[in-house]
Amino acid sequence: MARLKVGVLISGRGSNLQALLDACAAPDFPAEIALVISNIADAYGLQRAASAGVATKIISHRGFANREAFDAALDSELRQAGVELVCLAGFMRLLTAGFVEGWRGRIINIHPSLLPSFKGMHTHRQALDAGVKLHGCSVHHVTAALDDGPIIAQAAVPVLPGDDEDSLADRVLRAEHRLYPLALRLVAGGEPPPPEAGAQLIGS
Ligand code: GRF
Repeated sequence: MARLKVGVLISGRGSNLQALLDACAAPDFPAEIALVISNIADAYGLQRAASAGVATKIISHRGFANREAFDAALDSELRQAGVELVCLAGFMRLLTAGFVEGWRGRIINIHPSLLPSFKGMHTHRQALDAGVKLHGCSVHHVTAALDDGPIIAQAAVPVLPGDDEDSLADRVLRAEHRLYPLALRLVAGGEPPPPEAGAQLIGS
């Protein structure tokens, strides 16, 4: 079975990257991670990739005159590595419309809210302020607009009495770690997940 070659862009701790690395370790998983790129030199996710034997590259956005030049460097590294699908996993840079267009239909992101609610930053604070009783995370195709684009998969978690931003973020993050591999499996065109896997994503 040919496995889809994935490039993951990160900026930080890389816990979602870890979930993808763990999923890709299964021989029957339809994707493999060919390259991890971080714009931050000491991002912990780089160590996670190295421990899994995956190639890494640091491309600091500070080294470029503008966003177009930075994105061109990203694009070049991804294409050299033979990447077929880009996964954003806590990548804290806005990508240019040109980059996104170049990867149209082949770039996905995980966002910690049930889109289209709560785009942007501080999503758990936004959810608490809005008083919603269900919150969660979404994996979606990336378009030029922030946290927009067709939704691939979502997981819902309850907002419990007494929750603060940290407790809610922890609950959502645990859901993210199940959702992103599931969404990658769907996009990579593997077998659909068993029904019970999908069911676990609701109310967990
Ligand atoms: C996650 O909450 C993800 O949804 C958001 O950024 C965070 C990254 O966390 N886009 P990690 O680096 O994967 O641990």
